[in-house]
Amino acid sequence: MDPERFPKSKELFERAERVMPGGVSSPVRRVEPFPFFVDRAEGSRLYTVDGEVLIDFCLAFGPLILGHAHPEVVEALKERVEAGTAYGTPCVPELELAETVVDLVPNVEKVRFVNTGTEATASAIRLARAVTGKDVILKFEGCYHGAHDAVLVKAGSGASEIGAPDSPGVPEAVARNTVVVPFNDVETFVETVESMDEEIGTVIVEPVLGNAGCVPPDPDFLKALREYCDGTDRLLIFDEVITGFRLSLGGAQEYFGIDADLVCLGKVLGGGTPIGAFGGPEEYMSEVAPEGKVYQAGTFNGNPLSTTAGLATLRVLKREEPYDRLSDVARRIAGAIEDALEDVGAVGVVNRVESMFQVYFGVEEVRDYSDVNAADHDAFKRFHRALVERGVWIAGSNFESWFTCTAHSDEDVEVAEEAVVEAVREAVG
Ligand SMILES: Cc1ncc(COP(=O)(O)O)c(C=O)c1O
Repeated sequence: MDPERFPKSKELFERAERVMPGGVSSPVRRVEPFPFFVDRAEGSRLYTVDGEVLIDFCLAFGPLILGHAHPEVVEALKERVEAGTAYGTPCVPELELAETVVDLVPNVEKVRFVNTGTEATASAIRLARAVTGKDVILKFEGCYHGAHDAVLVKAGSGASEIGAPDSPGVPEAVARNTVVVPFNDVETFVETVESMDEEIGTVIVEPVLGNAGCVPPDPDFLKALREYCDGTDRLLIFDEVITGFRLSLGGAQEYFGIDADLVCLGKVLGGGTPIGAFGGPEEYMSEVAPEGKVYQAGTFNGNPLSTTAGLATLRVLKREEPYDRLSDVARRIAGAIEDALEDVGAVGVVNRVESMFQVYFGVEEVRDYSDVNAADHDAFKRFHRALVERGVWIAGSNFESWFTCTAHSDEDVEVAEEAVVEAVREAVG
């Protein structure tokens, strides 16, 4: 950030660096040379402590599908907070949110609430391992399933290989149980499952690769995953922490017409408060404690605040079904980027799936993680900087997605359209 424009943020960040690793509570928030501090947020806007206003297309990395501080969510939370914030015993919003999830999300008959997407995937993988009796899981390169040991593994240079840890502290023994295959590569996937048929019990995927920007699945990719789990004792987990309630009310399963065995949720489900969840058919979910033996627990699981915010958010989504509008906003801005690339004669591509999109400079096609790595990330940095200068905020990494929300107005879109044209010129013109 520019210290002239964000002087208070700079000062606060210097304090933060003294007491928090890297000055932040989560690595992706670290923007060079320092991130801005937010004073408050409303609708589509972030208001920084420096008095700057930014139109937000990062939206806390996806949860805020209704924008910041949506009046119905705020009202519901205000009422709930006065009734206490944690009970250690069941509460009505928890029950009603569970009923809503079961109603909306295909193949979910029972759901367990947790507090983050990380906990959701960790717990779903434990359940899948218990059900299948097999320890080895297969994930796809570039898919992020949270910050726990089993999934902090990426592929090496081979097409597929037994994982090596991404982070010090992840035991080799754990990483060895994670096999990584390139996203959208059906052939390698099939070869891998066939050659390791006896061992692989779980296949986990982000149906849209949202942690490499926005990489859509090829038409036959998710179908192949389903086919190669059907009729076997392998379970297919859709990590819908991003896509859940975003691609459609029923998420990616509904959108792509492919069934998963277990589904992980988070982000939108909590309406901007911390939440995660995993769910599936009775057959599997009845294995979860206390009904079954697969242990999963949490002091704040299904807490009244998160479930109230989630319930209010899903109520609005059900009532308004704003998906055409969300997609239209994304389509217009993505289109403006494409036109700008053409105008300046630069190579680049914009990927979009409904209300998620990302631009990649210097490459003509992005179908997997290695394509994202091949993109011009310095150009993306220039693009990002130019957008911030024009009051438009997106995540500071080419490995994240733009998101739209119901609070984005036509005026916001016009500002963004103009900003992206100038930013493309500054980045690659
Ligand atoms: C697809 C996906 N799964 C899991 C997670 C982890 O969720 P959380 O950050 O809530 O732990 C994320 C977070 O960005 C995600 O994008």
